[in-house]
Amino acid sequence: MIQTRIESMVENRIGLSASAIGSDVIAKAIDRRMKIFGMNKIDTYLDSLERSGKEWNELIELLVVPETWFFRNRESFIFLSHYITSQWPLKHKNRVLRVLSIPCATGEEPYSIAITLMDAGMEENQYFIDAVDISSIALDKAKEGVFGPESFRGRNLSFRDRNFEPVVNDREKRFVLKPSVRQKVRFLQGNLINSNILANEMPYDIIFCRNLLIYLSVKAKQKVVHNIGRMLARNGILFVGHVERPLVGNSEFTWIREPSVFACTKKKLSIKDKSSDLRKKTPRRKQKVFSSKKVPASSRFASAGVHKKPDNAKMSCQQPSFLQKPPLGIEEHDNLSNNEKIMKMATLHADQGDLEKARKLCKECLNENSLMIPANFLMGLICQAMNEEDKAEKYFNKTVYLDPNHYEALGHLAFIMERRGEPGRAVQLRLRADRILKREGATIENEE
Ligand SMILES: C[S@@+](CC[C@H](N)C(=O)[O-])C[C@H]1O[C@@H](n2cnc3c(N)ncnc32)[C@H](O)[C@@H]1O
Repeated sequence: MIQTRIESMVENRIGLSASAIGSDVIAKAIDRRMKIFGMNKIDTYLDSLERSGKEWNELIELLVVPETWFFRNRESFIFLSHYITSQWPLKHKNRVLRVLSIPCATGEEPYSIAITLMDAGMEENQYFIDAVDISSIALDKAKEGVFGPESFRGRNLSFRDRNFEPVVNDREKRFVLKPSVRQKVRFLQGNLINSNILANEMPYDIIFCRNLLIYLSVKAKQKVVHNIGRMLARNGILFVGHVERPLVGNSEFTWIREPSVFACTKKKLSIKDKSSDLRKKTPRRKQKVFSSKKVPASSRFASAGVHKKPDNAKMSCQQPSFLQKPPLGIEEHDNLSNNEKIMKMATLHADQGDLEKARKLCKECLNENSLMIPANFLMGLICQAMNEEDKAEKYFNKTVYLDPNHYEALGHLAFIMERRGEPGRAVQLRLRADRILKREGATIENEE
């Protein structure tokens, strides 16, 4: 089939997997392009696609998902600000901080980073930010620095008052970003699956790579993760999207244990670590944890806390069980139950910012099976993102009720308690979460 050939081209050249973005989306894009040329045969279109780089770029523009907004997953920026004001100056006196945003889409992410660093008190010459995307349309929009209401989500928009000017008499109610922020970001066009991407650049201290891996084929994911490993400085920090942690894996990265912050650092492998890594088989402990839990058989949500037997024998034994999940690969699971398929869609919608749709799908699952742990947890995340903390609390509580070792739900509950001004309860929840981590770590060591 010609469409399958075009899908393979897309996957091989830019990594986007047809099963993640949808074959129907690809079919519609092809159809749109063919209509422009008045073509009625798809093989004629394939011909022009193979011959013309320009046509290839046009098609790609219809396939990419440039969904983004300012301060998406705000906790990551709070964490960044904290790191910049506390740890960075101690470790890197007088060194310029290098930050990379990949992919940057229409610029909201790198500009949020710039605003965070400015607010944290960094001087203009103390940092710089590179931002890469494959879409030239998205990059042009980013450089222009004019943003509509869809770029500003959530209730706390004080950053907008400080850094933007409203466009005068604009029916679309857009805002222009101040030049002082705009000039802090260098935008570059690039394909992140290319092995030589930014090959001549020095390593970056902070990399944001969020909401790309979920759309990629297994092979493309590996390439991007490999590239990130090369581009990230030795003690650098990588931020990923909330469902992408298992896609990055545990073998090369150590995850930072901070609720709602999906970040990690590169693992320091000593010669001793390397040789013991090779010796290690999948620890026996995992079998025990998985078989003793009544959890849905194949949930794959990055943060849903479902313990599944990992297939990565190199996985570090120091990691708690909630981190030991198999890659999230959206496309590589065909034997999903109906509920699991719905949850997969719900996660994708949540990640794309369509929280209403995600919530509707989650509810569908919960109506079928109110004990489904990932559905309860994702509902908690969605409610939290929609600033409905009471509801979020209810769902996180239910998650913990169903899975008392759900470290992440405990972390979110602690976070809610802190915000509500109940530090005592927050501390208790954090201690409980810490005990889980320690207990699981101890079990591993005992059985080694
Ligand atoms: C959902 S946006 C993510 C934006 C931002 N990181 C965020 O989380 O809000 C995904 C972006 O990935 C870009 N993209 C897709 N494939 C790419 C590739 N192979 N190389 C570079 N960018 C790519 C798309 O153009 C799109 O702008």
